[in-house]
Amino acid sequence: MKKAWIIGVLVLAGTLFTIGGCKKDTIDPGTWQPVSFAVPAGWPQPAYAFVNNPLTSEGFILGRKLFYDVRLSRDNTISCGTCHQQFASFAHLDHDVSHGIYGLFGTRNSPGLANMAWHTSFFWDGGVNHLESQPINPIQNHVEMDMTMPEVITRVGADADYKGRFKKVFGDETVNSQRIFRAMAQFMGAMVSADSKYDKVIRNEPGFLFSPAEQRGLTLFRQKCATCHKEPLFSDFSFRNNGLVPKASVNDSGRAHITREVSDLYKFKVPSLRNILLSRPYMHDGRFTTLDAVLEHYRTGVVATATTDPLLSSGITLTTEEKNDIIIFLGTLTDSTFIKNKLFAEPAK
Ligand code: HEC
Ligand code: HEC
Repeated sequence: MKKAWIIGVLVLAGTLFTIGGCKKDTIDPGTWQPVSFAVPAGWPQPAYAFVNNPLTSEGFILGRKLFYDVRLSRDNTISCGTCHQQFASFAHLDHDVSHGIYGLFGTRNSPGLANMAWHTSFFWDGGVNHLESQPINPIQNHVEMDMTMPEVITRVGADADYKGRFKKVFGDETVNSQRIFRAMAQFMGAMVSADSKYDKVIRNEPGFLFSPAEQRGLTLFRQKCATCHKEPLFSDFSFRNNGLVPKASVNDSGRAHITREVSDLYKFKVPSLRNILLSRPYMHDGRFTTLDAVLEHYRTGVVATATTDPLLSSGITLTTEEKNDIIIFLGTLTDSTFIKNKLFAEPAK
């Protein structure tokens, strides 16, 4: 098992990380060199740059253990990984809204967690602005994990394996909220997805070219979608109303829930479209189960209200063929290296 993650680290080292001064057969887990986080070619600088939280292999692995630990929920049934599944790009496949502890349901769809280091805010309404302060919300949410931080600290601090890991990462065995959140931020911040067909074509990698339909789709995407779903992250991380009719039962006010501004009513964070084929259903409330339904919304379903984005006030004109080309293009955003990377997977018990 130890060998497995060393190989995993080396596989990743080849793509995104460099491990200083270690040869494959001489890595001693006790003397890990710090791993470094590399910004993929052509990408902007990340918002989260590990400045006060230097990324190390041990810190990352501690964060991963916490992420997949059901003991962070009151009845030991739900981990972060329950609602954020690797094969769905860390969204919750086939769940329209979150499904947490005691079988309870939330009101919003679980977003994918790729490339979190570039997000300038978190949650559909941007209610949290720092990757390190994000996990407290699901932990304390009564329909997600229903714990308190003191209880989490007691449970984690009672575990000898954890204590050894905290010592390795932070210098002593003290378990506290800040350390828990920093370790989780190392794990989530390092989850970079930049190896889809789209990326390979853009990087001019030999053997990778768009098909004619994909190329047509990209051209249309750049004309009609990319202002909001901006390359290369496929989001500009702004808050916009894309013309969905609010569900009466919830009446989720979106960004206005945080800012209390009428002008922010029903605006939601523009989601990234990376790995979009894997993370259905779609939108903040998971109302659409297919990309065809999403595109049909933009084509015929936009209902313009006072805060609907001007770009969408009369919908997006698309023929059926154009719609299909865009969907085919979106398929090039699937990054199977990311989905299959053992480093991000739940470690064997
Ligand atoms: C019961 C399901 C559930 C659990 C458990 C859960 N999440 Fe989430 N997660 C969600 C939902 C739903 C959202 C969106 C919430 C919102 O917008 O209000 C979300 C949002 C996020 C985001 C923000 C993503 C973005 O694009 O803004 C991050 C990061 C995240 N979760 C990490 C975690 C971590 C870390 C844990 C464990 C401590 C965790 N989640 C546990 C369902 C869950
Ligand atoms: C004016 C900005 C804007 C434009 C233009 C736009 N979108 Fe969106 N898109 C959004 C916002 C905002 C959301 C989230 C809305 C919500 O959940 O309430 C979204 C959601 C989506 C989703 C669901 C993602 C998920 O993870 O749930 C897909 C897919 C999508 N858009 C594709 C497209 C495509 C394809 C186009 C072009 C045909 C497009 N969008 C044009 C702003 C935009």
